Amino acid sequence: MRGKKIIIGVCGGIAAYKIPQLVRLLKKRGACVRVALTDAGARFVSELTLATVSEEPLYRNIFPPTESEGVDYTRHISLGEWADALVIAPATANTLARLSAGLCDDMLAAIFLTLRPGKPVLIFPAMDGQMFLSPSVQRNIATLAAQGCSIVTPESGELASGICGIGRMPEPETLVAALEEALHERALSSPLYGKKVVVTAGPTREKIDGVRFISNYSSGKMGFAIARAAVERGALVTLITGPVHLSTPPGVERVDVESTAEMNAAAEGFFGSCDLFIGAAAVSDYRPAAPYEGKMKKDDEHIELRLVKNPDILAGFGRQKSASQLAVGFALETRTGLESARKKLTEKNLDLIAFNFFDRKTCGFDVDTNILTLIGSDGVATELPQLTKDEAAGKLLDAIEQRCLNNGL
Ligand SMILES: Cc1cc2nc3c(=O)[nH]c(=O)nc-3n(C[C@H](O)[C@H](O)[C@H](O)COP(=O)(O)O)c2cc1C
Repeated sequence: MRGKKIIIGVCGGIAAYKIPQLVRLLKKRGACVRVALTDAGARFVSELTLATVSEEPLYRNIFPPTESEGVDYTRHISLGEWADALVIAPATANTLARLSAGLCDDMLAAIFLTLRPGKPVLIFPAMDGQMFLSPSVQRNIATLAAQGCSIVTPESGELASGICGIGRMPEPETLVAALEEALHERALSSPLYGKKVVVTAGPTREKIDGVRFISNYSSGKMGFAIARAAVERGALVTLITGPVHLSTPPGVERVDVESTAEMNAAAEGFFGSCDLFIGAAAVSDYRPAAPYEGKMKKDDEHIELRLVKNPDILAGFGRQKSASQLAVGFALETRTGLESARKKLTEKNLDLIAFNFFDRKTCGFDVDTNILTLIGSDGVATELPQLTKDEAAGKLLDAIEQRCLNNGL
C-alpha cells in the first residue's frame, strides 16, 4: 500500500461514518488518500473531518469555486489519472445508477469516468436490503461489474433502519484487505510480476574540471515514471540514475551515479541477472579526454577540449543478452528521426525502441509530457499521442508485457 494513490468516493449513506477510520487505516499503511464526497455524502460525514484525516483537500463540486486566474480547469479530469485505485464506499443506489448511466455531475462521477484503464475500482454498495435486491439496483450493479468494477457484496446483519438483512457495509479493515488484494491481483496478472527490471534515467555529467561538466537537459522524469509503473506491475526494479531532483518511487531500489562510465559500471553489474533492461537515461556520448585537476584558469584566449567516446550502455547489454532477456531503449532524435531510431534498434539488438523528439514544450527533455512512437524488432511502429510521462510509461510497459507474452517470458 506504501505510496499508492487511493481515491475514496463517499456517497450519502449512513455507513459514511466509517470512512474517516478507513482513511486513517490506509494512511497508516503509507497510502496517499484523497476523498471525493457527494453532496448527500456531506450530510452524513463532515468535509472537515475527511480533509483533516486525509490531510488533503476534499473533492466535491465539479466546478472550481472561483473562475479567476490561476484556477486549474483540468482538475475534474486529472484525478482519474492520478489515482492508482478508486474505492466507492458507501456506494448508494443513487450513485450506482449515476455511474452505470455514465453521468458526470460531480467530482466522484468525473473521477470514475476518467480513471485509467486497468486501475482497480472497488464498489461497496450499502443500503436497505430491499433497495439492494431491487431489480434496478441489481441491473446497475451488473452493468458496473461487466465494465470491470469489483462489486463487494454487502454483509447481512442489523441495518441502520433496525431491520435485519443484506445491505451493511463491511468494517474498514475488510475494505482495506479487499483493496490490498485488488492491487496485488493487478500486479499478479502482469507478465512483469517478479521480473528483475533495470531502468536507467536522467542525464550524466562528464567532468571538464573540478567545477564544470558537460551534461544535458534531461530531468529523469521519463525513467522515473517507467520505474514507478514497473513496480506497480509487480516488477523488482533497480533504477540507475544520473543527478536529478526527483524522489525515489516507493518500492524502487535506486543507484545514484554521475558519469556515463559510472552508469555503465553500475548497469553491467545487472546485465547477467536482469530480465528486462530499459535505457531511458540521456547519457553523454562523449567525455573530456583528460579532465583538469582543480579549476581551469581563463588565461588562454582559446582552449581546446578533446572528447573521447563513452561506452554505449544499451548496446553493451544488447550484445550479450540471452534469449530470455529483453532490451528496450529510447531514441531522442529530431522530429524526422524515425529512421535513425529504427537503425539504433537494429544496431543495438533491441527488442523495442521508443522514438521521441524534443521541443521543450510537449515532449523530450524536462517536460511532463511526451510523444512516443514505439518500434518493435518486427518493424511495427505504434504512434502514441501526447501523453503525460506516467501515461507514456504505462503504454511502453503495455507493449513490453505484450512482447513477454508473445515470447513466452
Ligand atoms: C437517513 C438517510 C439514510 C440514507 N441511507 C442510505 C443508504 O445507506 N444507502 C443508499 O443507497 N441511500 C441512502 N439514503 C438515500 C441517499 O442519501 C440519497 O439517495 C441521495 O440522493 C444519495 O446521493 P449520492 O448518491 O449522490 O450520495 C439515505 C437517506 C437518508 C435520509
